[in-house]
Amino acid sequence: MLKIIISGCSGRMGQVIASLADADSNIEIAAGFDVNAVKKNDFPVYSSPMEYTGDAEVVIDFSSPAALDALIAYAKAKKIPMVLATTGYTPKQEEQIIEASKFVPVFRSANFSIGINLLEDLVKRAASILGKDFDIEIVERHHRNKVDAPSGTALMLARAATEGRPDADNYVYDRHSVRQSRADSEIGISAVRGGSIAGDHEVIFAGLNEVIEIKHHAASREVFATGALRAARYIATVTEPGMYSMKDLIASI
Ligand SMILES: NC(=O)c1ccc[n+]([C@@H]2O[C@H](COP(=O)([O-])OP(=O)(O)OC[C@H]3O[C@@H](n4cnc5c(N)ncnc54)[C@H](O)[C@@H]3O)[C@@H](O)[C@H]2O)c1
Repeated sequence: MLKIIISGCSGRMGQVIASLADADSNIEIAAGFDVNAVKKNDFPVYSSPMEYTGDAEVVIDFSSPAALDALIAYAKAKKIPMVLATTGYTPKQEEQIIEASKFVPVFRSANFSIGINLLEDLVKRAASILGKDFDIEIVERHHRNKVDAPSGTALMLARAATEGRPDADNYVYDRHSVRQSRADSEIGISAVRGGSIAGDHEVIFAGLNEVIEIKHHAASREVFATGALRAARYIATVTEPGMYSMKDLIASI
């Protein structure tokens, strides 16, 4: 039995995690954390993590960068591993997360789908093989309520392309503000927001006479929730503090 806490439990992803965990007889939801502490499920919900005095083996967080300070303080005080799925952290918060990983195991991924993590490898390989003759552009699409842009996954894919082709390291988010043709070093990143799109990512390698597109389509939020619960099962068994990722999870399967 895995005893979890869901941070951001009143939100869209928190609710999907709660319903998958409810349906799994090997998972118990000990509590939920959310500033919007409405009770939608059978577990207790706290607006501040420190209010919860019971135990748990792992915290799964799909909330907001605003929740980070309280969450880290809680995880360090209780020595409890964290699965951090929230995106849109500032560079200073990224440093805070690395610092926290010196005290507790921290599992992070901007995208918990196994497919996207395969895509990351494919993008790295394609960028390396195709080289400078192919311009790289990334297009991501998400639902109308997503607040950060571009998505953490688009940035993750851009970094994978740069790993494959180190000269392509200039990420361009806004072609509207400058009137000039693109440089070889650019990776253009465009964000589309609308309707209920769970998350689509497309990496375009545009050459002179051919175009290669590598795409991922998330049909529902369940794909992220399933991955986060697998990550929670994995990180609950880890005893060494440190940063862990989907690569560690995949290697452990
Ligand atoms: N890594 C992934 O695979 C993945 C997938 C989907 C979404 N996400 C990310 O997860 C986050 C949540 O997404 P969502 O669609 O569920 O958003 P949402 O807005 O539906 O839910 C967020 C929840 O967090 C709560 N919250 C906000 N500030 C808080 C705080 N300071 N303390 C505690 N709770 C707080 C809100 O009340 C809300 O209930 C976003 O950052 C999103 O980008 C990551």
